[in-house]
Amino acid sequence: MHNRRTAIQMLTTAAALPLMPCGPWAQQGQQALQMLPMLDATGGGPVELAASAGRTRFAGGEASRTIGYNGSHLGPLVRVGRGEVPTIVENRLDEPITTHWHGLMVRGELDGGPHSLIQPGERWDIVLPINQPPATLWYHSHVHGRTAPQVYSGLAGVLQVVDGEDEARGLPTSYGTDDLTLVIQDRRFDEAGRLAYDPVMPDIMHGFSGDTILVNGQIGRTAAVPSGIVRLRLLNASNGRIYPLSLASGREMHLIATDAGYLDAPVALDTLTLAPGERVEILVDFSGTERDALVSDDNPNEGQMMRGMMGRSGNALGNRFDVLPFAVDARLDARIDRIPDALDGPMPDLAGRARTTREISLDMGMMGPGGMGGGMMGGGGMMGDGMMGRGMMRGGRDRDSIPDPDSDLFGVNGQPFDMQRLDFQVPQGDVERWIVTASMLAHPFHVHGVAFQVLSEAGGPPRPQNRGWKDTVLVSDQVELVARFDQPASQETPFMFHCHILEHEDGGMMGQFTVG
Ligand code: C2O
Ligand code: CU
Ligand code: CU
Repeated sequence: MHNRRTAIQMLTTAAALPLMPCGPWAQQGQQALQMLPMLDATGGGPVELAASAGRTRFAGGEASRTIGYNGSHLGPLVRVGRGEVPTIVENRLDEPITTHWHGLMVRGELDGGPHSLIQPGERWDIVLPINQPPATLWYHSHVHGRTAPQVYSGLAGVLQVVDGEDEARGLPTSYGTDDLTLVIQDRRFDEAGRLAYDPVMPDIMHGFSGDTILVNGQIGRTAAVPSGIVRLRLLNASNGRIYPLSLASGREMHLIATDAGYLDAPVALDTLTLAPGERVEILVDFSGTERDALVSDDNPNEGQMMRGMMGRSGNALGNRFDVLPFAVDARLDARIDRIPDALDGPMPDLAGRARTTREISLDMGMMGPGGMGGGMMGGGGMMGDGMMGRGMMRGGRDRDSIPDPDSDLFGVNGQPFDMQRLDFQVPQGDVERWIVTASMLAHPFHVHGVAFQVLSEAGGPPRPQNRGWKDTVLVSDQVELVARFDQPASQETPFMFHCHILEHEDGGMMGQFTVG
């Protein structure tokens, strides 16, 4: 069974490698970006994922200890179609994991949240009923208090729901040629070139970020693209960095899909912001050029004010850094030469249908000046039993007062996450309006088990990139969203809602609810 999986992966990996020994490539000595290996389960599966530890050599340095699904770092791109997909996740690590299908509309017991621990040596054997429009989703571990270090070390992959109709939609479909899936992450490395995760207080506050960009787990690669329309499926799988993205040439990005699926028509944008957990699909026209690059500006959460208040630590990339350079290779098949006028994505229309309104505040406390230097959280001590020392999680907190250094740093509606506490219950099938308010920083707010519609941002209409179906939205001020809660979730395996800055989530900016 494992042989079969390996064979499938090797085949698809080989097929996905861009051709490249000559042309603009060789002259520059650039190395070609590789796609994640594809685990194609569109025929019905099974999907078999084994979390295992290994070593990965990143940029020429010493090998790093990493973890991955079916490999030593990250996981395959799992592609599924409508129907029942038998799925097995095996944990070959020496610590518990979970595997959460971020964006998949399944009931709570299949969702892979923090209550669905897979102990070392155990297998999670489930059948995933796939029944939702095509979308680029992802999967990652979600152990409370350990999500940040586990995802940082590699326990994440991409999940795509497809319906076989993309040819008819006029969209690029050739994986690794004109249809590229890009997992964007930032990482830090020590002097020996080993992956480093050693968060001190400013890292916890901003979310841990690095000064090196990885795409699909690779550093410094260039993507070969045909001289035509190319589809880029972008996933921000970083712990904390928000990327204000654009193309170096100023070329337009034609947004075709948001987290939960297609828009009704492409929207041309000069920039778009991708926060942790979010996905977008864009079309870029590379005809008439030889090279370009996906570039990002600085993390807005590390702006002037926050820098002054909390300092920053070795993660400076500044503005306009390369996320991924592109080299146009005229020998690659440019199959698609126009941006489609329309897509068949169902645009959300839940406005005015809500029966219940909930207010959710994403709370972040400030430590007193004595606690800001990182001394109390520095070193490796915090990694042992969860991200935040237990002492920091005590007691309630008034949002309007300055919390003392003993109080919790992160919470929702004044309380840090508690596995034993249900925050609320949603009647199954109900439409609810949630008003989500951010404190201090912009927080990417994610809800399990639903796709939602953004009704407003900071009191105004949503930005164009937030007008499609979403499951994660960056809240800088206040966001009003509406969702219909169709998937059931019991008290044993409730759905989570949380900030997707993983250090905030692990620190308690998370809550849970049942649907039934
Ligand atoms: Cu991507 Cu609750 O997670
Ligand atoms: Cu999720
Ligand atoms: Cu946050």
